[in-house]
Amino acid sequence: MKVFSSLYDFFHWRESLSKSLSIGFVPTMGALHDGHLSLVSGSLSDSNLTVVSIFVNPEQFSENEDFDTYPRTLSDDLNRLKQLGVDVVFTPGIKDIYNKRVNSFSLKDPFAETLEGAARPHFFPGVINVVSRLFNIVNPDFAYFGEKDAQQLLLIERLVSSAGFSIKIVRGKTVREKNGLAMSSRNQYLSATAKGAASCLYRSLLLAKQLLLDGVVDSNIIKNEMSKIIEGEDAVVVDYISIVSLNSLREVNGRVLESVLISVAVVLEGVRLIDNLFYDSMSRPMSTL
Ligand code: PAJ
Repeated sequence: MKVFSSLYDFFHWRESLSKSLSIGFVPTMGALHDGHLSLVSGSLSDSNLTVVSIFVNPEQFSENEDFDTYPRTLSDDLNRLKQLGVDVVFTPGIKDIYNKRVNSFSLKDPFAETLEGAARPHFFPGVINVVSRLFNIVNPDFAYFGEKDAQQLLLIERLVSSAGFSIKIVRGKTVREKNGLAMSSRNQYLSATAKGAASCLYRSLLLAKQLLLDGVVDSNIIKNEMSKIIEGEDAVVVDYISIVSLNSLREVNGRVLESVLISVAVVLEGVRLIDNLFYDSMSRPMSTL
């Protein structure tokens, strides 16, 4: 496995490749867990070569967030990637990513304004800037993003079509702990008790999906039932519980008759956790329509 930390070393390698080889790319911020590794496995089986990047992007963190303490576990990460058979790991520094030879794209998109975009306005401009730079550097055929960060995934899909990248975005299912807690690099900040309590996010999402499948379509009733589950855990503070249309990422008020993204954001022991489920309206049994 090759590890490149400089832009020029990476460029050299990239330019030496035959055009007939397909490249799969998995961008990450490191502190790798099985969620990241499932995306890597997808790339390994789809492409001739797999590139993983590890870059903790400062632009995605506001001043009062955890950039300085964000877990950095490079040698463990490299060991795990090597065991899987990854070809190249790119670990750029700030000067590589923001090199003036690297083009970026800024996205003005209403999909960036709701949910996480409303709660953390710095976040998506930072993601789009760095991901568009990484796409220009790596120039992959496929790029892998997790449904765990559903709004990010949808924005990247829109970035690819509006910026004209010829990259196929592949969605990865959310990988969870046994109790349903979605894996996240930030889960290591949580105590064992908090990890147990945090299962309420997934339980609330499953309940919402079940209610929809049973024909309960009033969004207020669904969100109310979700908040009862979450508020059953004293330590969990709700930031938002939301049901948005997949056509607009705007809140569905009233009856949920379309495909939606159901999402929750909470704070637990000072750690912000997000989770979501996609709900496809075509999955509702005819008998409940
Ligand atoms: P990071 O949080 O490291 O996540 C990297 C990729 O792993 C993202 O596509 C994310 O959705 C996916 N992922 C995280 N947890 C997952 C889980 N439990 N199951 C499946 N996939 C999961 O997301 C970022 O980094 C950054 O914003 C980045 C895209 C690298 C840009 O800086």
